[in-house]
Amino acid sequence: MGRVLNKVHYYDGRIYERVIDPYFAKVRDRISEIVPSGSRVLDVACGTGALCFKLATKGCEVIGIELSLKMVERAKLRQRQEKIENLQFIHGDATRLEKFSDKAFDIAIISFGLHEMTPDERRKILLEMKRVAKRLIIVDYAVPQPHRLAGITCRFKEIVAGWGHFSRFREFYRLGGLSFLLKEAGIEILDRERIKKETIEIVQVKNSVFHKGGAG
Ligand SMILES: C[S@@+](CC[C@H](N)C(=O)[O-])C[C@H]1O[C@@H](n2cnc3c(N)ncnc32)[C@H](O)[C@@H]1O
Repeated sequence: MGRVLNKVHYYDGRIYERVIDPYFAKVRDRISEIVPSGSRVLDVACGTGALCFKLATKGCEVIGIELSLKMVERAKLRQRQEKIENLQFIHGDATRLEKFSDKAFDIAIISFGLHEMTPDERRKILLEMKRVAKRLIIVDYAVPQPHRLAGITCRFKEIVAGWGHFSRFREFYRLGGLSFLLKEAGIEILDRERIKKETIEIVQVKNSVFHKGGAG
């Protein structure tokens, strides 16, 4: 995977686990319903590993990859405490997944990762996910957001995450969110649903239905 850099946010690790993870709990419940038990899963930009733990507990073989060392340390601490074995955390850059062979995973998932990345990172990560997995699940903020308190709350959370984070989110939003990113990567959506008062979108993609001639 070459030299691995570290991504740092003030909220990485414990703060994320205490404040953000509970907020997304229902989203993870829904993802877990979609993923068949026994699947081999790659969770890209896994944060503190909350989704990884959920899927491992239902019998999936899970690898979580994450660029923030503090997030990975938090995930590994929990793993030691809970003694879960069918789970592995890697500190690494998901734009380069060369240690994994083509279609090594049944499913690759990214949740709330793409909106905070640069356009180049988003494109590379989607292409790598497409290469290493048979099926993709991509979760992020829905665009447009509802003009209600729920939508305002999401924007507010992104502002609190810091100016750099908010600027990327704004750019993600302005471009049209997941619809734009997936179209750009030549990825055809199989199924999409909105949850959490329509603020969050879960998109499913099957590799067999990628557009011919799409990137990768
Ligand atoms: C908002 S958090 C989402 C964490 C988790 N997936 C969740 O659902 O709560 C986005 C994460 O993406 C990670 N990230 C950003 N760029 C990455 C990259 N190139 N490779 C791996 N992880 C990355 C960040 O460090 C951060 O922890």
